[in-house]
Amino acid sequence: MNRGIFLSSQDRAPLFEALLRHIAGNPAQLHIPGHRQGRGLPESFRRLDNGMLFSLDLTELPGLDDLHNPVGPLARAQELAATLYGADRSFFLVNGTTVGIGALLLAAVGQGEVILPRNAHGSFLGGLVLSGADPVFVYPETIPGFGLDCGVPPAAIEQALVKHPGAAAVFALHPNYYGVTGDLAGQARAAQGADKPLLVDEAHGAHLRFHPGLPGDAMSEGAAACVQSTHKLGGSLTQTSLLHLKGGLVDAGRVAAALRLLETTSPSYILLASLDLARRQLALQGRELLERTLELAGRLRKRLARIRGLRLLAPEDLPEGKYSLDPTKLVISVRGLGLTGYQVRDLLADRYRVYIEMADASHVVAFVTIGAAGRDCSMLGDALADLAVREKGLPGAPLPEAPGTCKKLMKPRDAWFSRAGRVALAEAAGRICAETVAVYPPGIPAVYPGEEITPEIINYLTTVRELKLPCQGPSDPALKTLKVVIE
Ligand SMILES: Cc1ncc(COP(=O)(O)O)c(C=O)c1O
Repeated sequence: MNRGIFLSSQDRAPLFEALLRHIAGNPAQLHIPGHRQGRGLPESFRRLDNGMLFSLDLTELPGLDDLHNPVGPLARAQELAATLYGADRSFFLVNGTTVGIGALLLAAVGQGEVILPRNAHGSFLGGLVLSGADPVFVYPETIPGFGLDCGVPPAAIEQALVKHPGAAAVFALHPNYYGVTGDLAGQARAAQGADKPLLVDEAHGAHLRFHPGLPGDAMSEGAAACVQSTHKLGGSLTQTSLLHLKGGLVDAGRVAAALRLLETTSPSYILLASLDLARRQLALQGRELLERTLELAGRLRKRLARIRGLRLLAPEDLPEGKYSLDPTKLVISVRGLGLTGYQVRDLLADRYRVYIEMADASHVVAFVTIGAAGRDCSMLGDALADLAVREKGLPGAPLPEAPGTCKKLMKPRDAWFSRAGRVALAEAAGRICAETVAVYPPGIPAVYPGEEITPEIINYLTTVRELKLPCQGPSDPALKTLKVVIE
């Protein structure tokens, strides 16, 4: 087949097809994985499959290519992903967007400075520690009345680049966990003006490109690189993400080399095939699937807006500027119920068997995804309507205020590798933190290794401890102590 025609054939799934061909040949299998098409798996697990899925759990056999040196079906599958997303080069990832962010920090920043939004996800920490990159934080605007972050204004990036002309790159978050996007094109122009690549954490944006009713996607808005959790909103299996590159500001060879450092040498072919097929599904049916998703989300939004005590984040709540919302994410303020978001999340799960994506002090956040069913939406609507009648008026628990600004005294990497000891949280003021603490979700660190522990941080973490909020990062899960640098 003519290769050019093949590359534009989004109805093909080269890796998946290669796997099916391989199995159809009924080969002798004297290689890993040792379960050999499911036969060696524990019975209780094997029973879950009709025999086909586990057969796809193969490895780098002749004809099945190698993720770290792709020349066959994997290379073609990645090329199709690049074509679909308007990228020059795309990489399949099997350790989520986390590994893609780490690879970009290693490849495009190294030990230099990087402009980073303060509400960056906790998954940046690994890349910062491994690369030795030095974060220069820029701050997003806040949505009045909701207290949620939106985008970083391009002017803030321009100023940061004037102050830090040696910064190697600018990172942006687009959209954030709440589905809010900022002026990404403006951020890209600010970065390009200083000849720096704009790298985008688009973990929540794998679907954006496929419907005009959604905010623009990173590749269309001028990013030099982006990483998308295809598993979150693009229809592939958990752990799978895509990293895209465009233009010459980020060296593809260095990204490939960084991924070889960070990623397993035994990637799951089930995960890889799910990426190949999710790409095909988005190409062929993305518009239609998202049309339905938007309809479901729109109907649910209208219904929830009529429930007393609830307030839904809407475009008119966003500050002046080029902000927008992903309408498939419903951000619901529950303050009017006299409950915290955490309490509502727990009530929804325990009493109504309704599970949402996340909660914070004041909100619950529900994602309506391409797999969502009408039943999911009506169950959430019924549950919140019932809850609003039954629970209204209960006193709310104290709300933790996330610390506003930070004071960096060391690079995250230097603090991470410093001699460290433990001090009581209440006595940690003025010390340099040697670890991170992020309430999860959304997983935004309140403090990074290398930052001064301020009274504000102590107050916040004390409230987090009292409310028993789930945290990632602290080595003392009870949060009675913090790890600090011993100077
Ligand atoms: C904004 C953001 N960035 C990055 C990540 C990491 O993505 P992954 O779980 O695919 O590694 C997440 C995960 O929740 C996220 O919310």
